[in-house]
Amino acid sequence: MQLLVLNGPNLNMLGQREPDIYGTASLDGIRAACAPVAERLGVALDWAQSNHEGALVDHIQAAPDRYNGVILNAGAYTHSSIALRDAIGATALPVLELHLSNTAAREAFRHASMIAPVCLGVIAGFGARGYELAIRAMAGHLCDAPVKPL
Ligand code: DQA
Repeated sequence: MQLLVLNGPNLNMLGQREPDIYGTASLDGIRAACAPVAERLGVALDWAQSNHEGALVDHIQAAPDRYNGVILNAGAYTHSSIALRDAIGATALPVLELHLSNTAAREAFRHASMIAPVCLGVIAGFGARGYELAIRAMAGHLCDAPVKPL
């Protein structure tokens, strides 16, 4: 199973950027923390980041050739990008919307997501650990693995 973890604008600044909101881990640090999780699940991960809307659209359009699913933290484009929404709507791949912060608990302009209606689901508010949760959720979805009862 191959997944693309795609990150949008300003996420290259994680670790330095508003650490009270986004935490102190860098994107490279998050990537390193996710590697053993993915390995245990038998998932191969590729990571990409761009500050440019069109480049993110290009990644989503190219994804079906190489990946089984996309985990997308679209950053601020989440709230504004019809182009990203259309790219996600047009792909046959499942796309999981991810945020470090709980966008619903923040400014009103972050409450709306352009992309949520065309995504598989949303994980938000768990900080850097959200990436691990997203990998587990997407792997489970692709395996159609039932959630174990408590
Ligand atoms: C974010 C939330 C967005 O509202 C914001 O613009 C970001 C990061 C998050 O991961 O919490 O850049 O996607």
